[in-house]
Parts: sequence; structure tokens; C-alpha cells
Amino acid sequence: AKVHHHEFVIQATKVKRLCKTHNTITVNGMFPGPTLELNNGDSLVVKVTNRARYNVTIHWHGIRQMRTGWADGPEFVTQCPIRPGGSYTYRFTVDGQEGTLWWHAHSSWLRATVYGALIIYPREGDSYPFPKPKRETPILLGEWWDANPIDVVRESTRTGASPNISDAYTINGQPGDLYNCSNKDTVIVPIGSGETNLLRVINAALNQPLFFTIANHKFTVVGADASYLKPVTTSVIMLGPGQTTDVLISGDQPPARYYIAARAYQSAQNAPFDNTTTTAILEYNSAPCPAKCLTSNPIMPQLPAFNDTNTVTAFSQSLKSPRKVEVPTEIDESLFFTIGLGLNRCPKNFRPRRCQGPNGTRFTSSMNNVSFVFPSSFSLLQAYQQNIPGVFTTDFPATPPVKFDYTGNVSRSLWQPATGTKLYKLKYGSRVQIVLQDTSIVTPENHPIHLHGYDFYIIAEGFGNFNPKTDTAKFNLVDPPMRNTVAVPSNGWAVIRFVADNPGVWIMHCHLDVHITWGLAMAFLVEDGVGKLQSLEPPPADLPLC
Ligand code: C2O
Repeated sequence: AKVHHHEFVIQATKVKRLCKTHNTITVNGMFPGPTLELNNGDSLVVKVTNRARYNVTIHWHGIRQMRTGWADGPEFVTQCPIRPGGSYTYRFTVDGQEGTLWWHAHSSWLRATVYGALIIYPREGDSYPFPKPKRETPILLGEWWDANPIDVVRESTRTGASPNISDAYTINGQPGDLYNCSNKDTVIVPIGSGETNLLRVINAALNQPLFFTIANHKFTVVGADASYLKPVTTSVIMLGPGQTTDVLISGDQPPARYYIAARAYQSAQNAPFDNTTTTAILEYNSAPCPAKCLTSNPIMPQLPAFNDTNTVTAFSQSLKSPRKVEVPTEIDESLFFTIGLGLNRCPKNFRPRRCQGPNGTRFTSSMNNVSFVFPSSFSLLQAYQQNIPGVFTTDFPATPPVKFDYTGNVSRSLWQPATGTKLYKLKYGSRVQIVLQDTSIVTPENHPIHLHGYDFYIIAEGFGNFNPKTDTAKFNLVDPPMRNTVAVPSNGWAVIRFVADNPGVWIMHCHLDVHITWGLAMAFLVEDGVGKLQSLEPPPADLPLC
């Protein structure tokens, strides 16, 4: 196994998109940032130096971080932010995961531009469980604002209104042909006739689940979130923010140029959204391609309707592990978490006097009716390890405060959640089941729920209220997919299972950044049975403090 050393310098860089130049926060002046590559079993050492004017942390999305919680990255959860001028070195080993993950800033909305691919090849000497692709291309789907994303979120926090929607989606940082001033920079993905290539698709967008397709070509899905899947063929995939999907494509069409396209899957009703389409070009670069085929307009694919939940459901239900897997069958912790939005009153001293959300309210969001508040003077992990009182409580509820009908009339009291920094304690080794239920308060919506420090099996999904008497019949305990982010169906539920075998403090949150901003998060404290997480390495000497 190798150790790979990298340096990340967080810095403002001039980036021109949609006819305008912005001072964009990047890593090493690159947008998107550098791709990290390693083999399963290798270690990464990444020294992050902050030369920007914002606090920053970097999260290695999907890396299990077995007993290396200090390297996980979420601000105020496992570390305090790296202040301007500061630095911190993340050290961790990848063990057992193969496929596509990514890294991103985990501080305010910096991940809008601070992100990149993290590619884990098979262990040295091992091969893919599918024929070796001729080429491999990371495809990072992003969201671009014709503004500073930090200003966008600050303005929304100031007024209580929904933040401005993005102005473009991007593929590898470029909006593509359908946007102003973007034509000549459209990303070209080459393919040769007869080749089979691997696309590593990552949804790095801040707030938008996305459909992804290529004109006239089919995908064979072979992995997601750095776990292999039973190969399945489809012409369109959907990724919630945070999710990755590995697909094979074959150069089996007449040589020509074909659009690769992504646009919104919008499950929230009556909510404004960016309805534009980002494109790249799949270009046949081998003979016979008459000169004409490289100059003619690319062929445009059909994309599903914006609200096409049926396509999303059919796709997610088609994903299975390649073989029988070991899903915990006995459960020690049976949890039921509601996820959704809410509307709060403005505080007394609020300016501008009236909140700008619906009917003079401000948006909020919660899990089990607790809107998560990040600490500010210690990270949760540090506060636990050093016994610092008053930073968090461990009374996050196992079930929602009152029973209600998640698809019908939701009691008004649940529109205004409580606030708190509440953790849920798990014993090391406990077998956990969580039912995640969309409350549909304010609007039903597909929430991409991401758990740090773990992969989990998604054993079932459905619509309406989860029914513990009948829905257990839907549980797949044989070959469910393993992921780190579950797109919980709009107006529905999903059930996940995992074994709490990684001590530490691990946040679980909605990967729509607007929702984490509003409090759609909680954290698990997984105790190791030897006191204050003594099985973890001690905190690194350069760990940023608050
Ligand atoms: Cu990719 Cu906590 O996030």
C-alpha cells in the first residue's frame, strides 16, 4: 500500500463563467479542484493551507474514516475551521472501499466551488468486477451562481427567505453550449468506436437532485458511492447531491457528437428552481467519422420531466448489491427520524423587521423536530473527548415527539421545531435501523440524507407513511445496495441499516446545503466502550481549535 501526499491551497482565483469574472474560492487555483487517485488500501496525506478570507474545512465524502474521525472534516463536528492563514493536514487510510467518492469544503456554502473527485481503484493486483474500461472520465455535476455563493447564503439567513436559485448547472465546471458565453469551453468527452468507457458521475450540486443522460447511448450502472452494484442497464440516472454513480458506456453508435446532459429532478412543489440544462459532448474520435460529423450540431437527448418521480423510483429500485450481503437481521436500535422543513417566527430584534419567508416567516428544517445548531467554541468530537460541558446534549429523540400523518394534516406545532445540539448515543457494535420519513411540511421533497463515517444498506423505500406492520414485507435483506447517501423519496420514506462499528462523532444531514443551513442534521456519538473514545488516535497536534 502506498501513501499519497498532496497539498491543497485554498485561494481566491479569477473564474469566468456566463460572461462574468468572479473571485472564486478554489483549491490550487483549479475549478473543479484536483482529482485524487489511489488504490484501495492506500493512505492519503493532504495538507490544506487556507489563503482565502473565509474559514474552511475539507470533508472526504464517503470515506469511512475508521477510527480517524479527526480527519473527517465537517466544521464544528470533528474539528474547528481552518482560519485564514492556517493549515491542517488530513491523514487517513482507505480500506475496503472501491469506486468513486469526492471531497468538498464543509463550511458554509464554500463547497459550491471547492470540490473534486476522489477515485479509489481496486487493491493493487485486483481488477474491476467488470471488463476493464478503455478510458475513465470523472463527471462532476455542479451548480453555478452568477454571484458569490457565500453572499447568497448570507442574504438568505439575513432575510429568512429561500436563497436565490443557481444560474447554471455545470459538468466539470463548465455550463456548456446552452448557456451564454459558454460555447467554446464546453467539455468534450472522447470515445472511440467499439470502446467501453467508465464515467464516474458525481452530483456535487449544492441544492439540486439531477437527472443525467447521454443521447442515443445506454448506461450500464456498476457502482455507486464506492460500492459495486449488480450491473443494470438504463438510459437515465438520477443523483441526489452527494451521491456518485459509476456507469459504463459503449461506443456502439454511428460516429458523431452526442450531448451528455444533466438537469433538475425537482420534487418540491411550487418551489422555484433552476430549470436550465448543462451539457458536455460525447465525441467519437476514431475513424470513420466524416469531417462533417465533428462540426454538425450534437444530438440532444430526451430528459425526463422535471417532476418525473416514477423514473427516479424505477432507477433506485433497480440498484442491488452484486451478491448476497450481510445485512444485520437483529436490530438493537430501531430509530424513526422525520425529515423536513418548517416555518419559524422572526426573532424580536430581526431586521428587516418582517421575515421574507411565506407569510412573514423564516424557513427552518429539522430531524425529529429538532433543528440542529452547530457549536461554535469546540468541535463535538473534541468536546466529548475532553469532557467539555455545555457543548452538546445526548437527548436526540429516537422517534418524533408526536405521532402524526406525514402525508395529511400535520399538526401546526410541528411547523416550528425546537433547536438544539443534540446527539444520539450508540453503543459500539450496535445494529442500527433508521426509518427516514419525509414530513412533507411546507412541501414534499426528495432529501439526500448523508451519514458520515459509515456506509449503510438501503433495505426499502416507499411512499406515504411508513407502516411498521406491513412495510417490513418490502425489506430486502438479501442484496440491498450499500451507500453513504440515500435519496429519501419525496412524500415517502427509506429504511437503512448499519452496524455502529466506527467510534466517533458522525453527523447525518441532508446534502441539500440550503437544508443543512436551516438545521436538517443530527449527529451520532458512537462510544467505543473504553471511555472517551480512547480507541481513536489522539487529536493531531495541528488540529485547528476554535
Ligand atoms: Cu458530502 Cu457532510 O457531506
